[in-house]
Amino acid sequence: MKAALEWQIACGADEAIMDAPIDRTKVPEKPKKAPAKTTQTGPVPMAEVDTVGIAQAAAKAATDLAALKAAIKAYPHCDLKRGAKQLVFSDGQPNARVMIIGEAPGRDEDMAGKPFVGRAGQLLDLMFSHIHLSRDNPDRDQGLYITNVLPWRPPQNRDPKPDEMAMMLPFLKRHVELINPDLIVAMGNHACQALLGQRGITKLRGKWTEAMGKPCLPIFHPAYLLRTAEAKREAWADLLDLQARLRG
Ligand code: URA
Repeated sequence: MKAALEWQIACGADEAIMDAPIDRTKVPEKPKKAPAKTTQTGPVPMAEVDTVGIAQAAAKAATDLAALKAAIKAYPHCDLKRGAKQLVFSDGQPNARVMIIGEAPGRDEDMAGKPFVGRAGQLLDLMFSHIHLSRDNPDRDQGLYITNVLPWRPPQNRDPKPDEMAMMLPFLKRHVELINPDLIVAMGNHACQALLGQRGITKLRGKWTEAMGKPCLPIFHPAYLLRTAEAKREAWADLLDLQARLRG
């Protein structure tokens, strides 16, 4: 059993995704269906589901944060939901002037149900503490509100897919409307892709732009800063710029 487990770990299975084990050697094979008689020669077309339209309607109907969270939880079309342990909606102060938007939960966030709680999150907290902003501070001027483009962890922390981002975008838009922050901070390439339709964080960072009707500052993702210490100088400059803007 130990060897079998080690083999699975070597194959990349680092986590149990179901509460109870399934003995695949005992699962009965599905009886093979006789092929349906049809005159069609090519593949049968599947009815297209308008995943973005359904998300738009669900997001629009949500009139507060609790309703938005429930609407996302009930939305069945994003396959990430099936592999994730739980929904990661947000953390911090809903009245904050600054809303941070990251990419997607990782393993730690998936376990905790809160965004940015792993190593990248600890660096995020440290970075913002130097400009006197914190997710734990209920003061509107010193608080932070934090969410992600995707509310479920992608398997093995792979990059979000364009269709996943597209179907979750209406929920993010509604999230921004309900929080109504003064400023948005877009963390990293995927947040910029979702919010601005652009990639290339090295060029975008530090340049104020507009996203979802709000002033938006793209900055390096803290996970990138953990790997690339020399980029911290630019990240610090961007934080000072954010502080200056908040002081008006
Ligand atoms: N990276 C993100 O973009 N979001 C998280 O919540 C954690 C890590």
